[in-house]
Amino acid sequence: MNKIVLIGPPGSGKGTQAKLLADRLDIPHISTGDILRDAVRKETELGRRAAPIMAEGGLVPDDLMIGIIGERLAEPDAGNGFILDGFPRTVLQAEKLDALMAGNGNGALRVVHLLVPDDLIVRRIAARRSCPSCGAVYHLEQSPPSVPGLCDRCGSALVARPDDTEEAVRARLGMFQQKTMPVVTFYRSKEQLHEVDGEGPVDQVFERVAKHLDG
Ligand code: AP5
Repeated sequence: MNKIVLIGPPGSGKGTQAKLLADRLDIPHISTGDILRDAVRKETELGRRAAPIMAEGGLVPDDLMIGIIGERLAEPDAGNGFILDGFPRTVLQAEKLDALMAGNGNGALRVVHLLVPDDLIVRRIAARRSCPSCGAVYHLEQSPPSVPGLCDRCGSALVARPDDTEEAVRARLGMFQQKTMPVVTFYRSKEQLHEVDGEGPVDQVFERVAKHLDG
């Protein structure tokens, strides 16, 4: 069974690659960022708690995130495998995910770490536009919408994400180094880690990711 985790700094292409993998493998793409943004849009209790933390580039508390993922992985569509994008982000989240997987004898998690230098991340995030209605993601030069400013899928006006300001991106990069790089070390020590070069066109990165997971 394919149980895949994508780890990488903000803007490294986790969401882009996760969608392609989900299509190829026919398993759900579970993005904690998308789940939280949906809660913010719907103004749920979770959304109200998460919105200010996300806008500043901080991390939503572990207990909330672990609860969300526990519930999501219990849904029937995750029974045949899944791709996690944005979880785990702390060592505690990684340990809890291991505990959730214990007793599930269908193969170990495979963890892909996308390697992208900071200057490229800043350029990618500056060019990102997202659809606030359906969540589609564009890059103004690499994958622009057919009609400038409008979502190809649903026609809504595209926006820059509220956490894509220079200040928030700097905070998110700092958070990745401080809280998520120890997760990379955690999976390396368990020999579950695949380091993949995330530079270059989307399809080339995808071939590298797929090759690691096939091998
Ligand atoms: P999340 O949504 O997970 O944000 P992130 O990790 O900062 O990642 P991004 O969504 O910014 O980027 P990505 O790596 O998916 O790149 P993308 O494919 O879009 O989380 C948001 C927030 O939620 C967090 O900051 C935190 O507050 C909270 N949160 C979420 N999970 C949490 C957790 N587990 N615990 C605690 N808090 C949590 O690509 C970026 C751009 O580049 C796009 O425009 C894309 O089109 C383009 N692009 C992608 N690949 C390429 C390529 N190869 N070449 C050219 N352009 C490319």
